[in-house]
Amino acid sequence: MGTDMALVSMGPMLKRAQAAGYGIAAFNMIDYNSARAIIEGAAAMKAPIIVQVSVKTIRHWGYKPIATWVRMLAETVEVPVALHLDHCSDGDVIRRCIDAGWTSVMFDGSSLPFAENKARSEDIYRLTEAAGVGLEAEIGAIGGVEDDKFVAEDSAILADYDECLEFVKNMPNLAVFAPAIGTAHGFYKGQPKIAYALLEKITAAVAIPIALHGGTGLSQEQFDRCIAGGCAKVNISTMHKHRFIEGFVAVRQDKPKLEEPLPFIIGQYDAMKKDVTDMIVAFGSAGKAAHAAGEDAER
Ligand code: 13P
Repeated sequence: MGTDMALVSMGPMLKRAQAAGYGIAAFNMIDYNSARAIIEGAAAMKAPIIVQVSVKTIRHWGYKPIATWVRMLAETVEVPVALHLDHCSDGDVIRRCIDAGWTSVMFDGSSLPFAENKARSEDIYRLTEAAGVGLEAEIGAIGGVEDDKFVAEDSAILADYDECLEFVKNMPNLAVFAPAIGTAHGFYKGQPKIAYALLEKITAAVAIPIALHGGTGLSQEQFDRCIAGGCAKVNISTMHKHRFIEGFVAVRQDKPKLEEPLPFIIGQYDAMKKDVTDMIVAFGSAGKAAHAAGEDAER
């Protein structure tokens, strides 16, 4: 694989991952140190990676700084890196991300009535197809908190199978589809009830890779079953945020008198990177960079 890789679109690599039965990690970045830990963690494991960004993170840093950091970091490694917008219901933010260089975006119309979600997702699909950018779209309700939206875990609504088929019908080139299958954002309070049979049924009927939201706190067995069932994109946010804070704080606890800031940033980086490499192993994508990039697909 050549050096200076530009950012890639996640659709083709997710298709290859789904066909080969591994999952590509999608981490929600927080700042430059976090983006670096995600991308360099993936490079250390020779794994494809998706750096995704929440709307509130973009509002904090701005479009251009984030796109510049991620593109610059991607150019220093030899693994495919996609820059993705996580849950977004605002068409203006989506347009601005596309203009700034994001290679994929998520339109989340899951709180809208089905017909409206479908119609608005299709509008955004036309936009992303014209721009050569991948699209993720969601139906059903994934539990927990995402940005400022809260869905109680027990009122999370599973996607309806027939609606899934109807929803994706006019979006054949959707990069990834996110039907709610019983997982939730945040740390799980109880055992998640994952609808494996529904997942397998959707995967059998729809030729689009599936996104697994709410990756934090799932067991190896749950990851394995979801990935085997068609989930090619596995989202981790809460654990990454936790490492960001705890990695920094641990240095203060260890060295209360330290006044030099860099060891804090390094401690934070190491904690985040370790979780990234652990998850890549858990999802089976270690060593898959060339495969995901389509460079050894024939072998
Ligand atoms: P967690 O915060 O549970 O890891 O979920 C992340 C996610 O699905 C982002 O969309």
